[in-house]
Amino acid sequence: MKLINPRYKVFLTLILLCILTCIVSCKDNKNQDQLVKTDREVNVKSSFNLNKEIENCEMQLTTSSSKLTDLTKHPRLIEKNQTEWKEVSNNKLVWTSGFYPGILWYMYDVTNNEKWKNEAIKRTEVFEDFKNITEHHDIGFMMFPAYGNGYKIGGKKEYKDILLTSAASLATRFNPKVGTIKSWSVKMHPRWKQHLTIIDNMLNLELLFWSAKNGGDSTHYDIAVKHAETTMKNHFREDLTSWHVLEYDSISGKVLNKHTKQGYADNSRWSRGQAWGVYGYTMVYKQTKDKKFLDFAEKIANKYLSLLPEDMVPCWDFDVQNDPKEEKDASAAAIVASALLDLSTLVEDKEDQKRYYNAAVNMLKSLGSDKYSAVGKADSFLLHSTGAKSLGHEIDVALIYADYYYIEALSRLKKLQTKK
Ligand code: GLY
Repeated sequence: MKLINPRYKVFLTLILLCILTCIVSCKDNKNQDQLVKTDREVNVKSSFNLNKEIENCEMQLTTSSSKLTDLTKHPRLIEKNQTEWKEVSNNKLVWTSGFYPGILWYMYDVTNNEKWKNEAIKRTEVFEDFKNITEHHDIGFMMFPAYGNGYKIGGKKEYKDILLTSAASLATRFNPKVGTIKSWSVKMHPRWKQHLTIIDNMLNLELLFWSAKNGGDSTHYDIAVKHAETTMKNHFREDLTSWHVLEYDSISGKVLNKHTKQGYADNSRWSRGQAWGVYGYTMVYKQTKDKKFLDFAEKIANKYLSLLPEDMVPCWDFDVQNDPKEEKDASAAAIVASALLDLSTLVEDKEDQKRYYNAAVNMLKSLGSDKYSAVGKADSFLLHSTGAKSLGHEIDVALIYADYYYIEALSRLKKLQTKK
């Protein structure tokens, strides 16, 4: 070094420092990349502006609710490149009627604005007679987001009897020989002949649990538990992904077929099916406190997380997600985000609590980003859901239940943040 001119010495030291900084920063970036790839659910990398997101949703709902005035219908979807909700009749065979009133209840929950409560009441009370539906399992999806949230959020105690009657109607579809509720009638789904149970059915169990705890028949609790146990045994593959439709022999209870209706193929992994499972088993644990359901909820949630792409929003079927032309399903992401927020409060391990919480927040951040948000583009909260591509409809659209589970997640997050 003595041979080197002191001016060059300073220069060389500076160069050396630059190279060192570069190496360290590249290493950091590499670590960041690895985090993104392997552990992205653990680290929330920037803050999520929950209040802003709630404001955005309120702005969207203010626009849409002024247009949604026909009480005989409810909004179901916004077609790709359209801006306004397509409404469908409040018909007892349409499973989605409860979500719009449910969104209004949650908007009341997160804003305390009486305007939303009044609107929610108006939109809930139009289908009271659905409490007698026995033709399919969707009565849970139809009644609980509307009347259940009205009872819990809106303090509408007079909805209790309607909910209890709804639960009793759902319970008529339980077949003790199979150990599950029959989801669909074979008349409407002629591919099959016997007792059909779909993974989506897990969500309807919440109505039964609620009933058993609120003066309804105590067997509703047993039915819900039995359904969850049977589904846990039969409805999942060894790799912990879910089948969609199971056909059981109505008398022997034997599994006859494992198929799909909305997935890519009979043995493919329909992402919303997995999402229903994650939500369903988290809810069943919350209701029963039986550890086997928590273990299972965690296992299938971890499987779901392991299959996610970079932006935390799955393709409509995990088995086609390597094809960039295949559409996303934001509804699955919203369902799982909401479920994981609950799961984060139910697991004991602190690291797991953080992992599920952060995964949920990262999902919400992705859904609220320009890529998935409908702000400035359409009247919904979210874009890019896929209802039933295999049936040729609801492809890359806005869906009312994506918005419902999104605002439910925002409401859950708000409660968790207030607690902290
Ligand atoms: N039946 C509920 C769904 O389409 O996911």
